[in-house]
Amino acid sequence: MSEKRAKAAVVGVGLIGEQHADAYANYHRSDLVVVHDLNAERAQAVADRLGCKATTNLADIANSDVEVVSVATPDHLHYEATMAMLEAGKHVCVEKPLATITKEAEGMVRLAAEKGVKLTVNLGNRWNDGFKSIRDSVQSGEVGDPVFGYCRCSDTIWVPTTMLSWAGKSGPQWFLFAHTMDLFRWFLGQEPKSVYAVGTKRVLAAKGIDCFDAIQAVVQFEKTFVTFETSWILPEAWPAIVEFELTVNGDKGRLGFDGIRGGFELSSDIVGKHMFARPSLWNYFKLPDSWWGAPRNLVDVVLDGGDPTIDAADGVAVTAMIEATERSIAEGRPVQISELISA
Ligand SMILES: NC(=O)c1ccc[n+]([C@@H]2O[C@H](COP(=O)([O-])OP(=O)(O)OC[C@H]3O[C@@H](n4cnc5c(N)ncnc54)[C@H](O)[C@@H]3O)[C@@H](O)[C@H]2O)c1
Repeated sequence: MSEKRAKAAVVGVGLIGEQHADAYANYHRSDLVVVHDLNAERAQAVADRLGCKATTNLADIANSDVEVVSVATPDHLHYEATMAMLEAGKHVCVEKPLATITKEAEGMVRLAAEKGVKLTVNLGNRWNDGFKSIRDSVQSGEVGDPVFGYCRCSDTIWVPTTMLSWAGKSGPQWFLFAHTMDLFRWFLGQEPKSVYAVGTKRVLAAKGIDCFDAIQAVVQFEKTFVTFETSWILPEAWPAIVEFELTVNGDKGRLGFDGIRGGFELSSDIVGKHMFARPSLWNYFKLPDSWWGAPRNLVDVVLDGGDPTIDAADGVAVTAMIEATERSIAEGRPVQISELISA
């Protein structure tokens, strides 16, 4: 293992960007050199806490000797900053979703390849031990052949109305499907083929926030179909900010995760039992690895060689599923992923 340390920077240090900054500042293999934000006070506050420089000028990072950059701007603004950093020859870790337009996501992958730099996307749940165990269970055949799945991930209305200033430029599809659609593609090891979705804009629109209240999208993967549900209008009385539930139904069993009971449930005719377990690490929202895994993995592969654990192509596939969801709602028809991803 190399003794060298990587110089790192973060673009956009809001809630999650600050986590990336922490990930670099408190890692023995990286030094956080500078943080960037359009909000100068915010950048300075994070820089003061972590002992690095602050800037509002992206060129300060492009022209520096920083090697690794995280981009954690709002969803719809990942593309511009990422392209500028790749153009400057930096290795980049982009927060999920990689981009909100598939062609732009593909453009990022192309530019990274042209520049010979590494590009990864923080699909952070892949570092969560609970989700890893679901994947292991599905991949090892404990539910048999997966036939269908269901996943609901929603937020209370506090998220679009209070937490995020840019909710009207995004929506629960970019904020939450980016996690859940990636998880199922990863659990199943299958590529998405088509998406059919319905969605409604009523409650948030009436508050002046132009985004979906709720969406249901059926994604047909190669062999398995999964119904994804998301909403941004859960009542604030809900006992957590997030509601999360999923099931994977196979021909020999059923695996489920229940975010409120905080555990997962396996009924398997192969294992021959029904069980409910509450692994202590289930609370993914409190698990730093969910936020720190991808940036630190990028540091490791920049220093040691090799490819990031999460390939940018995973981010392209996720962007395509969500863009297909939006197109399906707009056009009232199933949308083929091949309409969006270049062959
Ligand atoms: N992995 C997760 O669990 C998780 C959770 C929440 C958010 N996110 C993702 O993280 C990203 C940021 O979300 P957030 O909740 O931190 O939002 P936020 O609003 O808290 O932070 C965004 C920051 O970016 C800054 N900014 C805006 N435009 C910019 C630009 N062009 N250049 C530089 N800075 C700019 C803002 O001033 C703000 O400080 C989003 O893509 C979001 O989907 C991921």
